[in-house]
Amino acid sequence: MEPNHTNISPTSLEKRLGNEKFQPGDGWVDNLTKALQATTLTDTPVVPEDSSYDMISLDTPDDALQLFLHKASEFEQLMAWMAKGSNCPTGDKHYAEKRAKVDKAGFTTQRSIFLTMQNIAEELNQATGAFELSNRRPDVLDLCMAPGGYLAYALKKYLLMLANAVTLGREKGGYAIHVPYDRRDSRVQVSFRDVTLLGYELGMANVPEAIEAARVHPDNDELLCPWPFAAPTNYHLVLCDGQVLRTHGRAEYRESCESTRLMCSQMAIALQRVHIGGTIIALMHRAYQWNVFALLAGFAKFSDLQLFKPTCAHRESSSFYLVAKNLRPDSAEAKGMVEKLRRAWMACTFPELGMSTAVFDSSKDAVNQAVAEFGDTLLEMAKPIWEIQTEALRAATWMQAEQVADEAQDKAQGQGDHDLLGEIE
Ligand SMILES: C[S@@+](CC[C@H](N)C(=O)[O-])C[C@H]1O[C@@H](n2cnc3c(N)ncnc32)[C@H](O)[C@@H]1O
Repeated sequence: MEPNHTNISPTSLEKRLGNEKFQPGDGWVDNLTKALQATTLTDTPVVPEDSSYDMISLDTPDDALQLFLHKASEFEQLMAWMAKGSNCPTGDKHYAEKRAKVDKAGFTTQRSIFLTMQNIAEELNQATGAFELSNRRPDVLDLCMAPGGYLAYALKKYLLMLANAVTLGREKGGYAIHVPYDRRDSRVQVSFRDVTLLGYELGMANVPEAIEAARVHPDNDELLCPWPFAAPTNYHLVLCDGQVLRTHGRAEYRESCESTRLMCSQMAIALQRVHIGGTIIALMHRAYQWNVFALLAGFAKFSDLQLFKPTCAHRESSSFYLVAKNLRPDSAEAKGMVEKLRRAWMACTFPELGMSTAVFDSSKDAVNQAVAEFGDTLLEMAKPIWEIQTEALRAATWMQAEQVADEAQDKAQGQGDHDLLGEIE
């Protein structure tokens, strides 16, 4: 089971707070703080390193954001089902088996992932039109390409397209490629690189201390290599579908912040390399976490933003896709976003420089402002995503097996009316 990464669930927060409701722009974070201080706390929150929230034990940006999102019943239901799932031994077993299968994927499993990715591309395109490009000979950059389902879908649509693709080498634990490339299809050029180690692309050359540090870095051989493609320099469509892999052998410094490194490097490169008016499709997780929320809020300022979750696969997970069309990478907001992403990438890649690893400002004012500006929009965009995930969890066979066991236990204890399912429905 994908863990519930919230330290304190909105449901438990709300219970502690009674029925008080907090509205953004109305000092709601302060109200929340007072209410929290007045309550007896049993959970141990994780307080972000560099945030003014450290004065208040519970009031992390994630908590504050989630309390706002909790006003949507779709979010509340999802949290309840995730909490139920995270305490579910049948779920743990189910996901352990699934993970083992993916980690040891042989040809047949990989082929099936390749076909699934093409189905997702088709569904995504029908819902958002993300693959409908104005140019009939588009240039496409795929930053974490293997097995190549998205690319195969695009290649079928655009016979004259050109693709540059980066993907983790097999020897480093990356997936095998199932789409023809290089000599088998000259439209597709592949570079077997770690996208999080494209140091020059990520602004390393502008920081003398970083260049110095790169020379003696555990990943120095890759960090010091230039951008792998001579042409084109910009792309009509950029795909960012990287997923941190358990099979990827990584240096120790990466363990605590690899998902931030992957997200920052893909998104910074995508924004630097996309054409004005182009499209980015990016895999995201957990729209209810501050970093993801702030990223989406940023993209809404310089693109036509849509969110999409497929129904043909990955329904139970918190993953979804950001689809940003008509991008304005030349805008001040987009350039500011690239700076933030690069800085956080640098902080995580060179911990010895002592920089802040926060991607976005997580002060109370910043959270308040972002929620006031973008909170309702995010709720509207995310509701269909949360509904798909909730429905999938509700219907999951492993969850139902757990429910049967719970009901039998409740019956034995004479308290069948009080189970969580009853509360939700
Ligand atoms: C979900 S799969 C991508 C599926 C692909 N978009 C498709 O359509 O078939 C995730 C990919 O990210 C790659 N990956 C993970 N970490 C990476 C890294 N640091 N650098 C480059 N590729 C990476 C994996 O090897 C894998 O190919």
